[in-house]
Amino acid sequence: MAKKIEMALPLGTILQKRYRVINVLGGGGFGIVYGVTDIKKNNSLYAIKEYYPRDLCIRDNDKISIIPLSDDRKRHFEKGETRFLEEAEMLEKFQHVRNIVSIHDFFQENGTCYFVMENLAGQTLGQYVKRLREKGGSPSWKQIAPIVYEVGKALSIVHKKGVFHRDIKPGNIFLLDNGTVKLIDFGLAKSLSLNESLSVHLTKGFAAPEQYSSKGNQGTWTDVYGFASTIYFVLSGNLPPEPVFDPSDKKRIPLAKYGFPEQISDAVENALEFDYRKRIQTIDQFMRDLGLIKENDINDSKSVTETVSKKSRVVPVIITRVNGKEDFYELKPNVTYRLGRSPSSSNIVLDEPHVSKYHCDLFYDELEKNYYVVDHSSTGIYVGNTRIRKGEIIPVRVGQVLYFGSFLCQIEVGVYEQ
Ligand SMILES: Nc1ncnc2c1ncn2[C@@H]1O[C@H](COP(=O)(O)OP(=O)(O)O)[C@@H](O)[C@H]1O
Ligand SMILES: [Mg+2]
Repeated sequence: MAKKIEMALPLGTILQKRYRVINVLGGGGFGIVYGVTDIKKNNSLYAIKEYYPRDLCIRDNDKISIIPLSDDRKRHFEKGETRFLEEAEMLEKFQHVRNIVSIHDFFQENGTCYFVMENLAGQTLGQYVKRLREKGGSPSWKQIAPIVYEVGKALSIVHKKGVFHRDIKPGNIFLLDNGTVKLIDFGLAKSLSLNESLSVHLTKGFAAPEQYSSKGNQGTWTDVYGFASTIYFVLSGNLPPEPVFDPSDKKRIPLAKYGFPEQISDAVENALEFDYRKRIQTIDQFMRDLGLIKENDINDSKSVTETVSKKSRVVPVIITRVNGKEDFYELKPNVTYRLGRSPSSSNIVLDEPHVSKYHCDLFYDELEKNYYVVDHSSTGIYVGNTRIRKGEIIPVRVGQVLYFGSFLCQIEVGVYEQ
């Protein structure tokens, strides 16, 4: 710990004339994550990741600036800097996905670069399990299933955008105090379209066999492996054996032998196949095999216009009725929209005096096929006569009507077929 603090920026350092470092949240071989407050914005909390490749640089005597260790390492340092920028770009790509940490800013300073993320309050899945085991407890499948479901949703979205994470492990899954699960650390993430040979960086035990070689064929199945080894580790307390040249000389004990349900054990076994061709290929298939999503998982609730049929692609839409005037908006799934009276800060402007400037955030979850709303207003959001709890992420069924402040502003949330 002392070593970590030694190379970290001194507490109190101000970055970009606005972010004050208040603590060190974590760090690995390539970066350090700090908790900061934004002194220009009511001391709001953020997390900042600093590019600090331990083997390639040192801090200068000022304890702040970073200098590469030698000319040769300088080249590697600069290459890594590009990679770090890519991590920020990846996060930007998934900015509005609820189960992925969001990014706010990127800047260069002190001879290195930084990106600013939302500050997550909680602990990693790794820390959670460690603490639980230290107290003599062990997680049940029932406890872990909702976390697996949320991570699966995030990964499914990531894969559908042609990206794979490649570093799924308990330390990169963050459990917020409010129950939300977020995927972090896209430091190894890659676009499927990039057809370059992949460098070898991995976490032993969680990394898939094909990650041990720069020529290995990596894809969605690579994250299936990392995800399955994470589940295996969390439930059994043991890492699956590392892929070695002769896999048969070290046998994995199936989760069923630890007393977990056969279905879970079988799905995890199939997801941990060393040969990627025999492995479960996609996250959606893995989720189905785990029994977390159904074969045809389409909501049967009514849409605004008509009933959603099984094979259709659904598009989220909302109808706003403000003082009797009706407007129709098509939304993008998995994107957070801000609704309110303020034209400058709202994606959807609701011009009615009972509506707050920033009334709420609205999000359509494509996998769950329902909406989520977070009330930020002073006048409230009502479903029927019930006021929803402010500041909490509240699920809203398709077809429901929300009242903003009064009955003069109604929002009907729905979907239609495409
Ligand atoms: N946005 C955040 N808010 C709070 N803590 C974070 C945040 N991002 C990272 N951390 C903490 O810092 C640790 C390291 O961050 P991570 O992005 O995983 O970097 P590394 O590449 O060093 O593993 C995480 O395990 C977590 O404990
Ligand atoms: Mg990490």
